[in-house]
Amino acid sequence: MKVIIPVAGFGTRLRPHTLHNPKVLLNVGGKPMIHYIINQLIKDKIASSIILVTGFLGEKIKDYLDNAFDFRFDYVEQAEAKGLGHAVYCAKKVFKNKNDEVMIILGDTLFDVDLKRMIKNNNSVIGVKTVDDPRRFGVVETDSDGYITRFVEKPASSEISSSKEAIVGLYYLKNSAKLFSSLEYIMNNKIKVKGEFQLTDALENMINNKEKMKKYFIDGWLDCGKPETLLETNRYLLNKSNKNKAPKKYKQINSRITEPVYIGKNVEIENSIIGPYATINDGCIIKNSIIDNSIIENSSLIENCVMSESIIGEGASVKRELLKINIGNYSEI
Ligand code: UTP
Repeated sequence: MKVIIPVAGFGTRLRPHTLHNPKVLLNVGGKPMIHYIINQLIKDKIASSIILVTGFLGEKIKDYLDNAFDFRFDYVEQAEAKGLGHAVYCAKKVFKNKNDEVMIILGDTLFDVDLKRMIKNNNSVIGVKTVDDPRRFGVVETDSDGYITRFVEKPASSEISSSKEAIVGLYYLKNSAKLFSSLEYIMNNKIKVKGEFQLTDALENMINNKEKMKKYFIDGWLDCGKPETLLETNRYLLNKSNKNKAPKKYKQINSRITEPVYIGKNVEIENSIIGPYATINDGCIIKNSIIDNSIIENSSLIENCVMSESIIGEGASVKRELLKINIGNYSEI
């Protein structure tokens, strides 16, 4: 099966980290987020072909994937980020047999899900998760047999009662020809939401043309699109990976490490308390600091800091002066 992974967005919500690095190469739990998606697809032998839709900083994604995996990826360019629907349409040229089945996975979203089971369905299925507040998401409405009757992109407050089943960014569609002709339809008719061609509008068009789709509940939905969700996903992955810990390749002097953590190669930790939930990547130096619930990219220096819920880019230096203080009784600072 062909798998389309759109990775052409700008990742504005994760700036400044995404100004020089594509979002999908940001590190979470010790690896770039895209690594987990590709690894699962290859390990589970799901994909005969993996198509990356690239744009901004796409060369960096290609360099990383071609070095990290022994797999021949297809890269197609989305010259302008005109929305997820448009990004998926850009992959059309790779589909020789237009009736292929297809999976679409957002590049900035990880899933703890059995993909093999998901694609055993007789119908097309759309990954969903029940959320408290659906206003930030696209949602699906279904009939009593569980078939999707409507897709609503970011429902307004008045529509909230309709459904709380948010679309999480994992789609399995039986017929790529119908997908591409629906995408063509929304683009020819300039059907846009917030200035972008949305995938949900094409899916809606497919069901209007009698395509049957069901929802598929996914519990392990790990969004990486915002600082707080990136850190949440980091915690989730560290909890999982610490069960089979790899041998230590870092130097530790007079320090305490509280699991779960990820500490990369050639890291030096001195007089510090690290963890829980700290990801410290290769070549970092940490001195006289306390760090938890944070991601520190390669080769950064942290000195005299107490740090939590932080994301530090590659090669950064965060040094604070130690406080020398001489104050009297009852003072407040
Ligand atoms: P998002 O809208 O979440 O990602 O799209 P973004 O646009 O990169 O991030 P923000 O909103 O500016 O912070 C979900 C996925 O779809 C891809 C993105 O790269 C991301 O992997 N995408 C989105 C495209 O490939 N092309 C687009 O035109 C839009």
